[in-house]
Amino acid sequence: MASAYGKVILVGEHAVVYGIPAIAVGVGVAATASARIASNPSLALGERLWALAGAEVEAAPEVRAFHALVDELADRPGRASELCAEVSLHQPSGVGLGASAAIAVSLARAVSDAFGTPAAQRPPAEILAAAQAWENVFHGTASGVDAAAAYHGGCLWFEPPAPAEVLALAEPLRLGVAVAGPAVSTRLMVESVAALRQAEPRRVEHLLRSIHSLVLDARVALRLGRASELGALLDRNHRLLRELGVSTPGLDAACDTARAAGALGAKLTGGGGGGCVLALGGEAGIDRVLDAWRGVGLQCFDATVPAASPA
Ligand code: MEV
Repeated sequence: MASAYGKVILVGEHAVVYGIPAIAVGVGVAATASARIASNPSLALGERLWALAGAEVEAAPEVRAFHALVDELADRPGRASELCAEVSLHQPSGVGLGASAAIAVSLARAVSDAFGTPAAQRPPAEILAAAQAWENVFHGTASGVDAAAAYHGGCLWFEPPAPAEVLALAEPLRLGVAVAGPAVSTRLMVESVAALRQAEPRRVEHLLRSIHSLVLDARVALRLGRASELGALLDRNHRLLRELGVSTPGLDAACDTARAAGALGAKLTGGGGGGCVLALGGEAGIDRVLDAWRGVGLQCFDATVPAASPA
């Protein structure tokens, strides 16, 4: 069974679409997939099932995406119609936790295995290119940060076009994540920032430059284990994302709840417009923040990343 991580973006979402680095964290097992050569080709995503040949091929984006993914890995085009593939998602989708990328990476690994090349023997770039082909059908201009986190896990420096780099953490990264708003399309949120950039280019360039500089500072804070500094940078990133128009009153309130419960910093994570927030706990951990979120009815979980050296 192939699998992939979910993700939260620590800093740099949206700006990363414009080539600015981002730091992401791969968390949990978000998706598992299997694939085999079969005479009745199909794709099952949870309860949903599509035939991989005939009229549905053009109709469902999932089927188009699967064909694009398989074409990246196969020795000739059109081999999706030789496969029976199944994928299960183990986290909510559409809330900024990288569900789509986790589906794509787990499927790419499973398809590679089914074609006789174990995914672990392929260069990461090949699996990521296949995952990106899937992502592009749903997200238009996806930066690839979600797929990189889904592939690698841990804490990642993502600076396109360089491959993602696993960051060594001086201290555990005590993160909590809460679902603070309804599911929202990442594509729409990315398009809304693009529209703002077109309407107000100078203001948006200034915001993007500010995000760039805080991402660089966050990398140093992580390396040196300066949690308070990192917390302040998360708060700053949230304010800048609000200026980019991707926060909501619900996301702002969930960040405030976390800070009031002792978080060192909090921000929306992912595309925004709804979805998730993350908060950074200090040495006392993240439990008080999780309790506070539960107290206001939010679904939440611990996403702590242990201190570790790069592989
Ligand atoms: C979505 O998790 C992150 C965005 O930056 C989009 C992307 O990078 O593809 C909003």
